Parts: sequence; structure tokens; C-alpha cells
Amino acid sequence: MAQNRTDSIPQRGALAVLGAGTMGEAITSATLAAGWPRGLVTVTARTPERLAGLAERHGIRAISSNPEAVRSADLVLVAVKPAQYPAVLEEIAPHLRPDAVVVSVVVGWTTEAVASHLPAGTAVVRVMPNIGALVGASMSVMSAGSACSEEQLARVQDLMAAAGEVLVCAESLHDAAAIVCGGAPALLFAFTDAMIEGAVSLGLSRATATHLAVQTFVGSSTLLAQTGEHPVVLRERVSSPGGAAIAGLMEFDRHGVRPAVVASVRTCFERARELGGRPADSGREDVGSTHR
Ligand SMILES: NC(=O)c1ccc[n+]([C@@H]2O[C@H](COP(=O)([O-])OP(=O)(O)OC[C@H]3O[C@@H](n4cnc5c(N)ncnc54)[C@H](OP(=O)(O)O)[C@@H]3O)[C@@H](O)[C@H]2O)c1
Repeated sequence: MAQNRTDSIPQRGALAVLGAGTMGEAITSATLAAGWPRGLVTVTARTPERLAGLAERHGIRAISSNPEAVRSADLVLVAVKPAQYPAVLEEIAPHLRPDAVVVSVVVGWTTEAVASHLPAGTAVVRVMPNIGALVGASMSVMSAGSACSEEQLARVQDLMAAAGEVLVCAESLHDAAAIVCGGAPALLFAFTDAMIEGAVSLGLSRATATHLAVQTFVGSSTLLAQTGEHPVVLRERVSSPGGAAIAGLMEFDRHGVRPAVVASVRTCFERARELGGRPADSGREDVGSTHR
């Protein structure tokens, strides 16, 4: 895998975001904050209330017609739920510009599966962002389909860099990488919640427990990111012999928390493949084979 933030900003063209819900709006908002001209951005959704809110919050064109949105778009980001995806792709296929890039953030769908619903030769880039996009701190992984040129991939990198960090990887690794980006926030939020409940059980108010736990996560993850130290090194540094932290870690292991996290990551991986229409257990060999 290669770290790939764009150094030179490609020419920005018209952007259509189809399905501007949680993720679509987060990416739209980040691109606008990064200076994407408002007049070049169109978003779609189904309900009039959602469309009115999008137009009001961002001052952009918000419409219900996907074909209308893609007609002049250079980049078409599709962020509907997997169940709506085939219908939306079939709907836009006849209206796409020949040089448009379709950016798919839909979990589990390969670039080949997306391209099979589009005119031959359509460039497709698969991206898995995460909810950190809401605060410009996504960790996004992306893979280019076979019809995508370097220049087209650079345009998608420019788009996604507005929402945070971007890592380009071979598509054979995408499913695994996407679980860390897209799936891990749910685990981390659940872990934070459990930490807060533990503190509340000791008598702290929920507000105080939440403040302490959240800021501790911010500090710990900043330390990991800034020092580049392995988590094991930092864990050993904060668990002195016979101390309180090591006693807590022993309890962690007695309950099998670490194997549970590994199992959870693997189950998330399988479910993502199912949502993309592939057999759940068909990906493990792909992942292993890249490390042989
Ligand atoms: N949320 C995340 O953290 C996250 C992370 C990574 C990837 N993703 C991917 O992002 C996609 C969207 O997830 P989400 O959480 O953002 O879902 P969401 O909040 O439900 O947003 C989906 C949006 O799609 C719109 N929509 C549905 N059918 C449509 C159609 N035919 N044409 C145009 N718009 C349509 C909905 O409009 P209305 O609101 O008007 O019904 C809604 O605003 C999923 O495929 C998911 O795999 C999400």
C-alpha cells in the first residue's frame, strides 16, 4: 500500500453526490470546506425535506433526479445504501459523460461489480471513508478499477483528501483495509461507551465519565499517531509491574476481549462481502495471498 495524498491539485470539475445522507453529506461538506466551488456541486436525495436541508445548509444545488445530476458531472460519487445501488447505477448509466469517474463508497461492492452496471470503459474508483469525514478526519482507503487512468485516480484523491487521510491500495486488499476504516469506528464507539459505563458504575456522572473517556481516547490516539510507536510498546509503558493498569489488562484477557475484537473484525469483513453480493468466506484467501 502506498500513502497517496495529492501534491498538485488537479483541475476541479463538476461533482455530483448521489444519495447525500450521512456519508454523502459529510464528504460534500468537506469538499466545500476545502474550496470546491459551490456552483460545481450537485447533490441528490429522495425526500423533499432532505433536499431542502442540504440546499439550505450548504448553498448548493440539491435535486431528486440522479440522471440530471450526472449529466454534466466529471466526478459522480454514489453514497446510497447497498439495497438502492443497482437501481441507481442502471438509472444513471445512459446519462454519464464518457470521461466521468464513478466513485463508489458503497460497502462490499467491487469496481468490477459497479462497472458491470455502467457503459463499457467507465472509470470506477472504490472508496471506503469513515465517519471521521464529518470533522475532516476520515481515514479513507481507495482502489482504482481497470478502466481508471492515473489522472482520474488523482482527481478522486483530491476529492477524498478534503475529508481526511487517503490511502491507495490494490483492490485485492480493499475489503480488509475497508473494515479498519469503515467498520472500526462502530467498535471504538462501543468500547468508549463501555468505558463510560464502567466509570459511571464507580459513581462518576455520565457527563464527567464521557469527558474523561473521550479526551483520553483523543490523547492516546494522538500519541499513537504522532510517535509511531507500536501499541504494545505504549501499553507496556502504562502498565507497571503489580500496578492497577496491569490488573485491569488481566481482566481484559480473562474475558477474551482481544480475540473478540479479532473475531469481530473478521465477521465485519464477511458481512461486507455479503452486502456486495459475494460469498462471505471467499475473501480470506485473497488477503492471505498478498502476504506470501
Ligand atoms: N455512514 C458511514 O459511516 C459509512 C461509512 C463508509 C461507507 N458508507 C457507505 O455509504 C453509503 C450510505 O450510507 P449512509 O450511512 O450515508 O446512509 P444514509 O444516511 O441512509 O444516506 C443514504 C442517502 O441516500 C438517499 N437515497 C436513497 N435512495 C436514493 C435514490 N434512489 N437516489 C438518490 N438518493 C437516494 C437517501 O435520501 P433520503 O434521506 O431523502 O431518503 C439518503 O439521504 C452506504 O452504501 C454505506 O456502505 C457509510
